[in-house]
Amino acid sequence: MNRVVLAYSGGLDTSVVIHMLTHRYDADVIALTVDLGANENKNDAGMAEIAARARRIGAVDAVVLDTRREFVDDFVWPALQAGAIYEGEYPLATALGRPLIARHLAAVARRFGASAVAHGCTGKGNDQVRFDVTVGTLAPDLRVIAPIREWSLSRESALDYAAEHGIPVTATKRSPYSVDQNLWGRSIEAGILEDPWVEPPADVYQWTVDSSDAPREPRSVEIAFERGVPVALDGERLDGVALIGRLNELAGAHGIGRIDHLENRVVGIKSREIYEAPAATVLHRAHQALEDMTLTRDSARFKARVAIDYADLVYSGLWFSQHREDLAAYVASTQRYVTGEVRLKLSKGNCMVVGRRSAFSLYQHALATYDRGDKFDSKAAEGFISLFGLPQRTQARVQRGVAEPTAEAAR
Ligand code: ARG
Repeated sequence: MNRVVLAYSGGLDTSVVIHMLTHRYDADVIALTVDLGANENKNDAGMAEIAARARRIGAVDAVVLDTRREFVDDFVWPALQAGAIYEGEYPLATALGRPLIARHLAAVARRFGASAVAHGCTGKGNDQVRFDVTVGTLAPDLRVIAPIREWSLSRESALDYAAEHGIPVTATKRSPYSVDQNLWGRSIEAGILEDPWVEPPADVYQWTVDSSDAPREPRSVEIAFERGVPVALDGERLDGVALIGRLNELAGAHGIGRIDHLENRVVGIKSREIYEAPAATVLHRAHQALEDMTLTRDSARFKARVAIDYADLVYSGLWFSQHREDLAAYVASTQRYVTGEVRLKLSKGNCMVVGRRSAFSLYQHALATYDRGDKFDSKAAEGFISLFGLPQRTQARVQRGVAEPTAEAAR
């Protein structure tokens, strides 16, 4: 018997894959649906309904796992602490979910004694890379089957296949876009979005309102962090899943978190992607503000360089690489004093930091103030500047022929 565990989302492609695996690969399909909070903001079919659909299409078994907590604690928070934003734009929602799904695919394959895992990715995207590389890292003996890629199935032919074999696609309503979503954000691509000159039509967005429709009254939010992890919203302690869920709604209602990114895929092409990531946008902004206050300049500069590499690793499916883990250890160490509160103002698509405080603040009012109570030693500035400017004065004299001042002029 030929058992295969399939990463099943309930959408068109993976539904078609259940049927293909059963009939073209002669496999017994175990459908695995991993809940990453995709339904938090948009009420699609529930998880049980997705499992039932898998069975109806022909899966011999269907497993549903609620991994929201694990997703946030093990993937989202480390990425937030790292400041990981791909190419300065994309907070990496999809990219962070894939290694977690792949890890569970391998675990469920073990549980069911399966010899292979499968996914519904095309041969053109990043997700196939993330799945294949992760499974190859964690369970190299498992075969990875990618029917959509192997048969070069287009979206239209997947629809035809579904119609031909009576596979229900009503729940996905034949969306003109390809969508992937989890707690950390929503990724939308394909259809009219493939023309990078075309403004995304209104129906692309489901978590965010257009900024012109956002309330006129700004909304102020306060986020508390402990060691770089968000722990409370407006003074109320919340677990990560609840905090992100609530912030997605709050910030989305003010039109925050729309991203239109022309990005460089791992497979070498540029693609136009639309993202909605209200909570991620607010939390990255807030976290950065708290680091501005609690990290030294050197630490902040170095960490910003690490963030670029860290984001590239996540994007490229190298989450379980030693290198990503080493960088994560460095990042975790930098977060020891990133504790405090940040206040932001959400208004008409904008999210602005308007206040921050921390018991570990390196901003010291007594040093910064121009008012009475100034503890800064301005007298010491003279000697400091004299030595600070010494190399440049030396060069000017020796290499640029600037004359040394006469004794009187120097006075
Ligand atoms: N371009 C994004 C990424 O690579 C989003 C991918 C969305 N995936 C999807 N199957 N629609 O992370």
